[in-house]
Amino acid sequence: MASAHDDILERTHTCGELTADDIDARVRLCGWVRSYRDHGGVVFIDLRDRGGITQVVFDSEGDDANAADRYALADSLRNEWVIATGGVVRHRGDDRVNPKLPTGEIEVLADELCVLNRAETAPFTPDEYTDVSEEMRLRYRYLDIRRRDMTQNLRTRHAICKAMRDALDADGFIEVETPFLTKSTPEGARDFLVPSRLQQAAFYALPQSPQLFKQLLMVGGLDRYYQIVRCFRDEDLRADRQPEFTQLDLEMSFCDERDVMEATNAVLRAACAAAGHTFPDKVPTMGYVEAMRRFGTDRPDLRFGMELADISDIAGRTDFGVFRGALDAGGVVKAISVPGGGAMTRKETDALADWAKGFGAKGLAVTKVGDDGGLTTGIAKFLTDVAAELIECVGAKPGDLLCFGADTSKIVHRVLGELRCKMARERGLIERDGLHWVWITDFPLVEWNEEAGRWDSLHHPFTAPRDDELDKLESDPQAVCSRAYDIVCNGMELGGGSIRIHRPDVQQRVFALLGISSDEAEAKFGFLTQALRYGAPPHGGLALGLDRVVMEMVGAGSIRDVIAFPKTQRGTCPLTGAPAAVDPQQLAELDLEVIAPPEDASP
Ligand code: AMO
Ligand code: AMP
Repeated sequence: MASAHDDILERTHTCGELTADDIDARVRLCGWVRSYRDHGGVVFIDLRDRGGITQVVFDSEGDDANAADRYALADSLRNEWVIATGGVVRHRGDDRVNPKLPTGEIEVLADELCVLNRAETAPFTPDEYTDVSEEMRLRYRYLDIRRRDMTQNLRTRHAICKAMRDALDADGFIEVETPFLTKSTPEGARDFLVPSRLQQAAFYALPQSPQLFKQLLMVGGLDRYYQIVRCFRDEDLRADRQPEFTQLDLEMSFCDERDVMEATNAVLRAACAAAGHTFPDKVPTMGYVEAMRRFGTDRPDLRFGMELADISDIAGRTDFGVFRGALDAGGVVKAISVPGGGAMTRKETDALADWAKGFGAKGLAVTKVGDDGGLTTGIAKFLTDVAAELIECVGAKPGDLLCFGADTSKIVHRVLGELRCKMARERGLIERDGLHWVWITDFPLVEWNEEAGRWDSLHHPFTAPRDDELDKLESDPQAVCSRAYDIVCNGMELGGGSIRIHRPDVQQRVFALLGISSDEAEAKFGFLTQALRYGAPPHGGLALGLDRVVMEMVGAGSIRDVIAFPKTQRGTCPLTGAPAAVDPQQLAELDLEVIAPPEDASP
């Protein structure tokens, strides 16, 4: 009895492999029943595994003595049951060929069937995933993973990781693991804390990145390090953010910006090849100031135009109060021209103004270019004298919608930068395929944090200022450029890094600029500043957001589609129920107490 079942698990093929070349071959397949159809005396099963789908036929009138029993068993099969089957490959018959399936020309006439496991009626089948909420998909993630897109995304992710590892290995990088139970690393988010039982009232922080450890590895002489590593950040979640996410993290010694960017290009080239994309021989570079000026953001999407035009000069010659007010307050006026946007209704453009307020704007002035090439509607009446000049400056065409931002450059850039992407998305102006890469460089070292009344690092406090601008560090900090760089693809920041400070005196000066006192620096990063005193080589590196890289490569709309077990937007896991209340005993061991447990908290 045992033997039949033993060899029936010995698969000869996956369910995605058989073609007309295999006709007459004896095969064995295992998988899940995707669908079943009884055509009176003949049962057709679509059998699915991670390779694909194969049609299997059970005929009650087969040659062998067991045909009737096997047919009866096949007739009892239901969706998602797990079976093993064997038989002979045959052509389906010309009128039943399914050209959409790789296996669509053939079917397997079964002479073996073993039910390996039954399945209860599932809350949804993999094919029905679009009909259920994402919460449901995440709760029954194992059902969701059975569907082709998810399986394919995870396989591409694997292929990308492997290609990255191979490329880095070939380039002399070695993979080293760094601790998860550690101290806070400043990457700008809140830490996840883990209480220590052995050291009462003390906490580990889960790393926001391995930043400080990789720098220590350089001081340790390791020369070239990389790691595919989980990072933890307690921040508000978005379509491209998770509280735990993965970085391809790397660091190298005796290098400058070019070296790190070249090493990263090599990794991305390998990743692209693994995912069926090409990577350009040369990736364009754009300075931060230019990116902000032309696109309103430091992660410009270069798949479409609609660049921001500075019309402050022209606006200054109009009587439009909104423009004059912004300019008098030292602000700017900029515009974008939305191709074909002239077709938008008043209601739609009013809605845009409300939307703009969500980004801090006071409104969004608009007008349209009419068929005669002049301005109509909206604020056209204020622009009569400058219309021709304005249209030329913005590069607008008849049928376009002109949208204006008048405010501080920070707000204008934010609003028009976002509007540009929103319009491109909604009006179908984005080229579907293709990855548009750009390196952003020459970031300012610091930016003024109005609320906190201090300078904040644009990147992180270990990023080196440019050597030739060191003398301005105290006297004119906002004029100092850092040695940071970001890699951007299709408007998403896929990675960022910098050349680091390797001299203890410079690190002290930067801490001082950021308002980190020497006591605080000692308490938080004393181990790093000490290491810098024991022979730190010049070094630099970068981290790619691996989930985002995979997202771009497979064209996923959400970061959750490329992670096997992601968290929801609220940071929860519907599958396991995390985060959850814990047993009072566990808290007692940690000397912790929940002061006001929420009413519905159950252990
Ligand atoms: P940074 O903070 O820019 O740099 O992070 C590097 C890359 O990680 C990705 N990323 C995220 N992906 C998903 N969810 C998140 N919450 C999230 N946060 C960041 C982004 C980002 O570009 N230690 C430095 C790197 C260095 O200087 O070498 C760092 O972590 O794609
Ligand atoms: P108001 O003078 O407030 O009625 O505004 C006239 C038009 O200018 C409206 O369409 C507003 O949405 C728009 N608007 C107001 N403030 C700004 C601003 N700071 N930038 C751009 N447009 C604005």
